[in-house]
Amino acid sequence: MLYDQISEAVTAIRAHIQQKPAVAIILGSGLGALATEIRHAVAIPYSEIPHFSRSTVVGHAGRLLIGTLEDVPVVAMQGRFHLYEGYSAEAITLPVRVMRMLGAETLIVSNAAGGVNPDYRTGDFMLLSDHINLPGMSGNNPLVGAQDERLGVRFPPLAHAYDKHLRTLAQTVAREIQGIKLHEGVYTMLVGPTYETSAELRFLRTIGTDAVGMSTVPEVVVARQMGMRVLGISLITNEATGNETQEVNHEEVMQAAEAARIKFAALVTGIVREIAS
Ligand code: 6GU
Repeated sequence: MLYDQISEAVTAIRAHIQQKPAVAIILGSGLGALATEIRHAVAIPYSEIPHFSRSTVVGHAGRLLIGTLEDVPVVAMQGRFHLYEGYSAEAITLPVRVMRMLGAETLIVSNAAGGVNPDYRTGDFMLLSDHINLPGMSGNNPLVGAQDERLGVRFPPLAHAYDKHLRTLAQTVAREIQGIKLHEGVYTMLVGPTYETSAELRFLRTIGTDAVGMSTVPEVVVARQMGMRVLGISLITNEATGNETQEVNHEEVMQAAEAARIKFAALVTGIVREIAS
């Protein structure tokens, strides 16, 4: 049973740590470098945590880091799981449930995404103001299945999934960081691993997508069911133009993430500091 799996993972992790984490962080593709900012860190490979899957993607390390960021106790996922790796929506969101049960009340979730909004440039950031859960709308929602009241309600509302106060705070922090561009917009999730076709890109625009990617939404759904405050941040790693001469590729995505590493670290560090104060 899911609840027992979560409890077993929590027990195994607690054996390694002293402090209860207040903030959970999920580091997206190429954004794992923030991990070096975490002090007094205990690193636990996913392979040593009961019921965790293995992360199989290049650019995703696959371990849990528990330490402090700006003196705030945090737990960070360096590497996450995706539906396109073949794991179920329940399996990829189990770590979020575990981080919540460890004590984290806030989730900061990041990803690399394609910029669909024509105003977005590679290297910009976007705070998620909302999402479109395409896999969820077609049957692949992490909450599909048996209901367990210990994990939250059957029908969680998501109209205010992305905390307004945290977004305001993030904008305040961004104003202090040289050269950062921080949009707010709608993230649409595709399962992947194929990038969108030109026709799909027109569809994504029509339905109100600002950025598109292959993660984050299942984790947010579960975090909200468990009552966490959520902040979502996309790094725009390519401009989804539909232009065949500018096709997106994974290397380009990783390069953009590498270039944005320092700004991303400053942004998240600043946000965590503000959350605590
Ligand atoms: Cl689904 N599309 C594009 N264009 N870029 C991405 C992505 C998708 N996921 C991550 N980066």
